Amino acid sequence: MILSPSLLSADFSRLAEELQALEAAGVTWLHLDVMDGAFVPNITFGPPLIKALRPGSGLFFDVHLMVENPARYIQDFRDAGADMLVIHTEADRHPQRTLAAIRDMGCRAGVALNPGTDLGAIRWLVNDLDMLLVMSVNPGFSGQAFIPATFDKVRSARRLLDACGGEDVLIQVDGGVCPENTAQLVEAGADVLVSGSAFFGHKPYDARLAAFMKSLDGREQRPALQKAARRQTFALTHPKQK
Ligand code: DX5
Ligand code: ZN
Repeated sequence: MILSPSLLSADFSRLAEELQALEAAGVTWLHLDVMDGAFVPNITFGPPLIKALRPGSGLFFDVHLMVENPARYIQDFRDAGADMLVIHTEADRHPQRTLAAIRDMGCRAGVALNPGTDLGAIRWLVNDLDMLLVMSVNPGFSGQAFIPATFDKVRSARRLLDACGGEDVLIQVDGGVCPENTAQLVEAGADVLVSGSAFFGHKPYDARLAAFMKSLDGREQRPALQKAARRQTFALTHPKQK
């Protein structure tokens, strides 16, 4: 399992230090929540913030675009330093075209589904995907309660991906994730877990990361994660600058 802490819950007055502390603690991914005030009822940040953080960080930037018509902005986010761009199917009339364009930029491509969106939305996108993000809250805010139906949805998603040639497509879960539901999510088929409030609220970060990992009790890595690692799906595409 890979833990991807959500920047939204970090201390915004000292972000560069927060990112350094994450790396020092052994974290490898950072989840960046971009909200436009239209697709979701909240506004966060855009490419300039990502561009400012990029040179000082060796973390894999997993950028979750909660914006309408994300195709308009993918080049800007890629140029700013995203390693992976995740769009919502609900926000894009032509998600296949957008995913292909993201990959053409040398970026990893992911699609996110709101809790109420059926998995059928990704059936014909499997060949264009590096990751499927199963939302376990309705997007917009940190600190919301985890929706239990997510366990079944993750299980069904893994079956669907495996049956359609997407064995190395990662499954990410975002919203209300904590050490208490980590084992069950990984058991269901999750490869990457996003955590905001349940991670940043607890220092030191190395101990908190260990708490998430310990809850797995030595369970094997998911096959999808191993395959993706072999394919270097999450190799850094923006080397850290000195
Ligand atoms: C929700 C965001 C999440 C959020 C997670 O709209 O996409 O990434 O920051 O925060 P927690 O873990 O607190 O639910
Ligand atoms: Zn998110």
